Amino acid sequence: MRIAMIGTGYVGLVSGTCFSDFGHDVVCIDKDAAKVDALRSGRIPIFEPGLESLVSSNAKAGRLRFTTDLAEAVPQANAVFIAVGTPSRRGDGHADLSYVYAAAREMAEYLAPGTVVVTKSTVPVGTGDEVLRIIREVRPDLDVSVASNPEFLREGAAIEDFKHPDRIVIGCEDERGEQVLREIYRPLFLNKSPIVAMSRRGAELTKYAANAFLATKISFINEIADLCEKVGANVQDISRGIGLDNRIGSKFLHAGPGYGGSCFPKDTLALLKTGQDYEAPLRIVEAVVAVNDNRKRSMGRKVISAMGGSVQGKTVAILGLTFKPNTDDMRDSPALAIIQTLQDNGAKIQAYDPEGMEQAAALLSGVTFCDGAYSALEGADAAVIVTEWDAFRALDFARMKQALKAPILIDLRNIYVRDDVEGKGFTYIAIGR
Ligand code: UDX
Repeated sequence: MRIAMIGTGYVGLVSGTCFSDFGHDVVCIDKDAAKVDALRSGRIPIFEPGLESLVSSNAKAGRLRFTTDLAEAVPQANAVFIAVGTPSRRGDGHADLSYVYAAAREMAEYLAPGTVVVTKSTVPVGTGDEVLRIIREVRPDLDVSVASNPEFLREGAAIEDFKHPDRIVIGCEDERGEQVLREIYRPLFLNKSPIVAMSRRGAELTKYAANAFLATKISFINEIADLCEKVGANVQDISRGIGLDNRIGSKFLHAGPGYGGSCFPKDTLALLKTGQDYEAPLRIVEAVVAVNDNRKRSMGRKVISAMGGSVQGKTVAILGLTFKPNTDDMRDSPALAIIQTLQDNGAKIQAYDPEGMEQAAALLSGVTFCDGAYSALEGADAAVIVTEWDAFRALDFARMKQALKAPILIDLRNIYVRDDVEGKGFTYIAIGR
């Protein structure tokens, strides 16, 4: 199959690269000429394990190319994927679809009859209808299919997720759309990843429902963690105790400082807006969003109370800044709200993150960025683990004790065993236990 992928962000670049790795002929298109130049010379704009070598091997094999020019890729394509950003619109939380609609309008004049246009970006219900309408506006007589194929990959595990998905959701209004998508995904289908075919609107909604449900699990277990602290129970016991019930499932039941990232915060908000627009309010999702917003701020207060009720003039070492490990992504990271709260209360911040410091520096002011975990701890009054990078899972407690002014470890990701840490002479504060 010949595939054109519009947008080389996270989803576009990973999907395009993996499709080429399946053996398809893929051209990735982006307006950003500097990004396209970088990709052509093998430089990857994001940190994602395994992506660089996969881009390079497929580019070498001639199956993966990059261009800024739609005219170079769209006319030959059997399928044109739209994988541009859909950020939250400033002010109202609706998904901003201007990039999606611009892509539809710009590609329209180059589309060959019989092409399948596929939205891979996360888009609200009805976006596919509008994409079709826009294409028809430019090319009234064009024979074209518009399908939806949401992507469920996670940052940091993107290639593995793309190649071994739990399922592939395709939403089509005609047979051709479904046939072309089944052909594109055939290698995965053979690997036994089930294809769930449905209407275009159904597929669009499935993506939001999945993200909102996962966010619900997280906010739920975070509230249970708060209750555990009050009643003297361990939230990890509860997670295991409920998660082994197959109807519940053990994933996404890790209590922590709240979810962040490029998807959950924006997608839950966009789903709420859709619910309001259609007069079908989603009250559970509303609560999930509110709990998560509160949580990020309350984590700052948790650190303050662990440090004796005041951080005025004190130094706090922050280990981990990104919203989760194995990414350099700082979008909606809990670290932002936590650091802000601590700074508002007079603390100085020394921080270290294995990949995210450049991105963090653009969003935070007054933070001292350090070149390693132990240098961040140097002279600090307490250490706070905000992101569970592997590099923080086996810290040398003797070295920590030497570096810190007071041996206090606040573990917002529950990656340590209390007895071990306390046995080393530390005060240990964790989440829900
Ligand atoms: C998510 C979805 O998992 C993915 O299917 C979708 O395509 C995009 O959004 P991603 O944002 O990359 O992926 O990260 P994910 O691993 O899902 O984590 C999201 C956030 O939830 C992180 O901040 C993480 O720390 C938090 N989280 C996750 C928890 O706090 N507890 C958990 O048990 C799981």
